[in-house]
Amino acid sequence: MRTQVGIVGAGPAGLLLSHLLARQGIESVVLESRSRSYVEQRVRAGVLEHPTVELLREVGLADRLDREGMPHEGISLRFDGGDHRIDFTDLVGRGITVYGQQEVVKDVIAARLADGADIRFEVGDLTIDGVTTDAPSIGFADAEGRRHELRCDAVAGCDGFHGVSRGVYRPAVYDREYPFAWLGILAKAAPTQNELVYANHDNGFALYSMRSPEITRLYLQVPPDTDAADWSDARIWDELQTRLAADGFTVNEGPLIEKGVTGMRSFVAEPMRHGRLFLAGDAAHIVPPTGAKGMNLAISDVRVLSDALSTWLRTGDETGIDTYSERCLRRVWRAEHFSWFMTSMLHNFDPESSGVAGFDGDPFSRKLQLAQLRYTVSSRAAATSLAENYVGLPYGAAL
Ligand code: FAD
Ligand code: DHB
Repeated sequence: MRTQVGIVGAGPAGLLLSHLLARQGIESVVLESRSRSYVEQRVRAGVLEHPTVELLREVGLADRLDREGMPHEGISLRFDGGDHRIDFTDLVGRGITVYGQQEVVKDVIAARLADGADIRFEVGDLTIDGVTTDAPSIGFADAEGRRHELRCDAVAGCDGFHGVSRGVYRPAVYDREYPFAWLGILAKAAPTQNELVYANHDNGFALYSMRSPEITRLYLQVPPDTDAADWSDARIWDELQTRLAADGFTVNEGPLIEKGVTGMRSFVAEPMRHGRLFLAGDAAHIVPPTGAKGMNLAISDVRVLSDALSTWLRTGDETGIDTYSERCLRRVWRAEHFSWFMTSMLHNFDPESSGVAGFDGDPFSRKLQLAQLRYTVSSRAAATSLAENYVGLPYGAAL
């Protein structure tokens, strides 16, 4: 079996890469270890940056996004008993759109399959060989257990943080773990307000978000080793009401549709290319979710990669593939900084309540955190900086 680009992983990065390559006349095969229904149901991110939405529109993937996505013009920061709105439209003239990651995944899969694309789900025992030669290949077993070899010109490692592609070489790794996790729920309850709330509370961080006019998405900071089963529905709602409390605001409660714990880490592997292997998305970098950047970064990587690969495969010009890693890493490090900044400003680092001794948990750091929050909501310059990062810096911005 042969194709031009062998893509490992059918998350947002791998699927969109396949779509962008096809638009430039480049063939690919996508190999995914999970089933189609699993990847379509996996609940994860929900915020699309402005450049992400523009890109999805430009490449014909935004029909449902434009109908069902929820455009937002700002967010609230809640701390010290007060609520402070950051007005994106006023500050930077752009906003974000709330649209679940699994909806993006469903839309791209539908478009690819309608185009006759080759996406193999439920593959096993995947191996990547020959990436430092001009004949790379991917070995895998299909859903029936038969082995195959996919020969290709390039391999795109879009297999997420726990995938196999990063292990093919030894990139330098820069990382940090945080002394807490997020307990996330989806609830069948109408959102009480239209915009997201990021709350800094003595009990820990809380985030108020939504997926539709009937579904609320909520997160709580919890100790890193938390078992979701230890949190009853009543305890979750109680803690959400406490942490998100503000004048005239209550969280509507309803039956839980999903409940899960997400670890928090910052991680970057450099470079993102080894020979003919190119990493994209979570395979190369992870951000803590507080800045809502993970999926958006995965999408910006494959935008750069699709152009680089198609130019090389059509003309032989290697400039794009040679500069791929460096160009992506500029945006990656900007997002790493912003995600670390939002995480540091909004979480409780106190070792007593987080349950884990860590950095930044002393009373001095807490005072700095409040000073940063007050500055962010009172200075137009500081609020503008948050807004331009949150809605997403334009692609190609000098970073
Ligand atoms: P993924 O979406 O991880 O896709 C990788 C794909 O590769 C998966 O389908 C996987 O099954 C497949 N794969 C893995 N190994 C193999 C293999 N050996 N062979 C074949 N296929 C393989 N971001 C936010 O902005 N906000 C959030 O609230 C948020 N919540 C998250 C919750 C969780 C539990 C996780 C894990 C991530 C969350 N993120 C969040 C991050 C965001 O979802 C990711 O940044 C985004 O999914 C990255 O897309 P990707 O395509 O690079 O990787
Ligand atoms: C959502 C997730 C985030 O990480 C975030 O910062 C904002 C919203 C969400 O799932 O809706």
